[in-house]
Amino acid sequence: MTTHLKRHLLAFLPFIALLIALTVTAAEPPEGFPEPLNKNNFKEELSKGLHIIDFYSPYCPHCKHLEPVWMETWDEFRDEGKKLNITFSQVNCVESADLCSEENIESYPDVRLYNPSGYLKSFTERPKTKESLMAFARRESMDPDNLDTDLDSALSQSQHLEGFDFIKLIAGKADRPYLVSFWPTKNLKDSDDSVNFENCDKCHEFQRTWKIVSRQLVMEDIKSGHVNCESNPTLCKELGFSDLVKITNHRADREPKVALVLPNKTSNNLIDYPKGFSVKSNDYVDFAKRTFANSQFPNITEEELKKVAREIDFVPEKGASFNNDIHLVFAYDPETVVVEDFDILEYLIEPLSKIPNIYLHQIDKNLIGLSRDIFENMYKLINDYNTGEAQKNFSEEYFTMNTVTQLPTFFMFKDGDFVSHVYPGYSTTEMRNVEEIMKWVQKYSNPLATEITSSNLREWMSFQTESYSNLAIQLVSTGSGKQIKGSNTLIRKLLLASFDYEHVRMENNFEQINEKRTKKADSIKLLKEKKTPADKIVDKMREEIPHIDNKKLLLGYLDLSKEKKFFRRFGITGDHKVGDVIIIDKSNNFYYTKDNFGNTLTANEPLLLREAFVSLNIPSKALYSSKMKGRLMNSPFHNAFSFLDIVHQNGIYGYLCIIILIIIILKSPSFYRKYKVRRNYNSKRNAVGILGNLEKKQNQD
Ligand SMILES: *[C@@H]1O[C@H](CO)[C@@H](O)[C@H](O)[C@H]1NC(C)=O
Ligand SMILES: *[C@@H]1O[C@H](CO)[C@@H](O)[C@H](O)[C@H]1NC(C)=O
Ligand SMILES: *[C@@H]1O[C@H](CO)[C@@H](O)[C@H](O)[C@H]1NC(C)=O
Ligand SMILES: *[C@@H]1O[C@H](CO)[C@@H](O)[C@H](O)[C@H]1NC(C)=O
Repeated sequence: MTTHLKRHLLAFLPFIALLIALTVTAAEPPEGFPEPLNKNNFKEELSKGLHIIDFYSPYCPHCKHLEPVWMETWDEFRDEGKKLNITFSQVNCVESADLCSEENIESYPDVRLYNPSGYLKSFTERPKTKESLMAFARRESMDPDNLDTDLDSALSQSQHLEGFDFIKLIAGKADRPYLVSFWPTKNLKDSDDSVNFENCDKCHEFQRTWKIVSRQLVMEDIKSGHVNCESNPTLCKELGFSDLVKITNHRADREPKVALVLPNKTSNNLIDYPKGFSVKSNDYVDFAKRTFANSQFPNITEEELKKVAREIDFVPEKGASFNNDIHLVFAYDPETVVVEDFDILEYLIEPLSKIPNIYLHQIDKNLIGLSRDIFENMYKLINDYNTGEAQKNFSEEYFTMNTVTQLPTFFMFKDGDFVSHVYPGYSTTEMRNVEEIMKWVQKYSNPLATEITSSNLREWMSFQTESYSNLAIQLVSTGSGKQIKGSNTLIRKLLLASFDYEHVRMENNFEQINEKRTKKADSIKLLKEKKTPADKIVDKMREEIPHIDNKKLLLGYLDLSKEKKFFRRFGITGDHKVGDVIIIDKSNNFYYTKDNFGNTLTANEPLLLREAFVSLNIPSKALYSSKMKGRLMNSPFHNAFSFLDIVHQNGIYGYLCIIILIIIILKSPSFYRKYKVRRNYNSKRNAVGILGNLEKKQNQD
């Protein structure tokens, strides 16, 4: 009987399996899930707002895999999508083959973003998950570049330039600045033309960006143009854009290039757009505006600089612009300055174009007095908040030591900062050295409080680590107007703690320098007493005491309403909420979430936060015995950091990368040699050990 039953069941097994397979693959669509769009309703549906469209074939395996994810995303995002004016839709490319061919769909599934006037960009993240799709929808619905439908019906303002026109511009014939784009084609006359770009997926996306850029630049009185590289091969090769002239690698994707020509100049007037490719029109407009402004070395007044150094809101209200500027000011004495002193400014335009937020100015005054006033204001802030401790006083000696310079020199002022920086320009040697000046600029080129995101964390972690030992991240949220206000209050408290720490840090540096000075004086005295030859004494006297300016803090804030996956992605454990502060030890990649007393680090207690900074960096000055080091968290940034990161960005390819890496390491001769040496060594040691044990045993016997 039982065997009989078994045999029956066995016979049914394939059918059961099929049944299970069918129920698994054909997931039940949620209620109200719409039919795919077709040629008849496509345009009309698009006109209703933004759409994320899945172009699929019912037969492709990846499409089948995506289907249940898509349904779930559609269902869960329905209400939020209505508010954001963005919809998840589908097109079945077997039923609507004509529509898909009109839209240039070449592979399935192809997920793309559309606005009422058409295709904007593709969704290329892998794997396609509910979370990544919803994050894409949120991000894109907020992006003004996607929404401005007026611009879509408008025409591009970019002029078609032949090589010869372009050469006239760089020969000094431009009377306005020109932002010029370079394309891998010979057919782009009007930059709106529909052109088939080979090996350049980004070109189509960029046409729209370029149109918006060209129209925004009209308002800035900056001209725009575009060059066809296939028609002007020599020019494009000269400019370093050879890949736009001819396809050399059939698998490589190409991207259009952009450069700025400055007006009325015959040299140093061509500046490449320094960042990687972007579809954000603002990136290009900001670059052109800021670089052109910097090339004019505009005057600035002390009143304007005073406004820079005050308490400000770092997180802007919706639509307002960021307060994160850095002002580099060339200060000279009109009585003593010579024309050649100004030459340096010209050489700074190009390197400064690479640092976001930096503005170059000039002033015919010494700014030491202003710097001192501002610095004194910092002490007012510290003493106002920190009433529990003895009043802290501005140290004239320390200030003077840090501001020794002659005119002309450079001063740097940052939005919201009370510490101004002075370039040590003792003579023309320092003031005509572009490299030294840029090194100094780079060192202070971080905004006072910078927004930290998943994509820039790594960059800030490695920013000038010898000078900045910690990165302190304030957790904020900007979902509503009220939250934005709260975020600014939190960042202010973080800054108070950091100013208070800055005082301790400067005092400590000053003491160290003084100690070295005393030591030097003592040893000179000793040499003199010993009647050492004069040249030895002079050598000792010439020894420079290096300026100490390390253990600085890098400050940032993380917007939890935008960065939902931040902690998981970097392997930071525990619960983290608005108000908390995380301190990252940049050189060791450790992080801290608890203060000396084991409480969560938070900006709500600036004094305890200050103490945490001191404990970590200058333990000898800590008021409470430093327990901080005992509280460091395992280092998620160390090994796991890079590992998770590779996998996160590349999915299964990430794992493959790691496997390939391991194979390469194992295969590398030096690794293998070291491994063999170690193995030999180990086996020898083991052999000796075993022999030793045997001997012992014999002795015992
Ligand atoms: C959604 O977007 C469309 C097209 O841009 C626009 O006409 C419509 O007014 C928007 N609807 C809402 C509710 O914002
Ligand atoms: C460039 O020179 C021309 C002619 O001298 C002048 O009209 C124009 O304003 C100058 N442009 C700029 C940006 O200085
Ligand atoms: C900048 O300031 C200098 C010195 O005060 C003055 O001679 C010059 O005209 C000013 N330049 C502009 C563009 O205002
Ligand atoms: C700072 O100055 C005030 C007033 O002059 C004085 O009472 C205080 O002792 C000073 N503090 C320190 C730490 O020197």
